[in-house]
Amino acid sequence: MTGTDAGEAFLEMMGTCRAIRRLAPDPIPKATLEKLVWAATRASNPGNSQGWGFVVVTDPERKARLGASIHAAMGPVFAQVEAMPDGPEKVMMTNAGHLVKHFAEVPAFIVVAARNVYPPQAPNERFVWSTVYPAAQNLILAARALGLGSAFTTFHMTCEAEFRRELAIPDEVYLGATVAVGKPLMKFGPLRRKPVEEVLHWEQWAD
Ligand SMILES: Cc1cc2nc3c(=O)[nH]c(=O)nc-3n(C[C@H](O)[C@H](O)[C@H](O)COP(=O)(O)O)c2cc1C
Repeated sequence: MTGTDAGEAFLEMMGTCRAIRRLAPDPIPKATLEKLVWAATRASNPGNSQGWGFVVVTDPERKARLGASIHAAMGPVFAQVEAMPDGPEKVMMTNAGHLVKHFAEVPAFIVVAARNVYPPQAPNERFVWSTVYPAAQNLILAARALGLGSAFTTFHMTCEAEFRRELAIPDEVYLGATVAVGKPLMKFGPLRRKPVEEVLHWEQWAD
């Protein structure tokens, strides 16, 4: 593969890396999960402070307990999905509900977390999120590259105390993303995004 072909293949993966919320229960090898965390830790991060940490959750009972807590918090939201007008929003919410309902069967969740460590003299919470999000994005792109589906979620926000207790995450560590990973049961596909012309400004911002 030439450099150009590899680049085009990479861009095509980026362009089809949609949230895959329906995942097969087949276990993901530990080496593959480690590779995903390797990719996450290649991300840009503030001052190379690397304040991140990753908890890989595969234990079915633990996943079942977390899934039940999320469901308890989000049940009323999912109960309204049926009444939503048909469209992409309804499809997304239906698939999100499916993911929560089948939480225990999802082979792995990777919780991307970080400490507030940057800048060292005066740590600023904003840099915590600058640490976790590029890492999580690298992770989902790496999953896509390996043919795995993933879904970036913030489900931990619905029951953070349970996540902290189940995963033994100390109070000073911030939870940024809970990424579901598994063999995809949906197709990778083009992303619905605004056209570049609508968001690109040359030299100066202009409406
Ligand atoms: C910060 C952040 C939080 C998100 N939280 C959730 C979530 O809690 N549940 C979920 O199913 N998807 C979540 N997503 C995924 C987005 O809903 C999804 O990327 C978006 O709807 C676009 O869909 P696509 O990635 O399939 O194109 C989140 C994404 C980001 C970046």
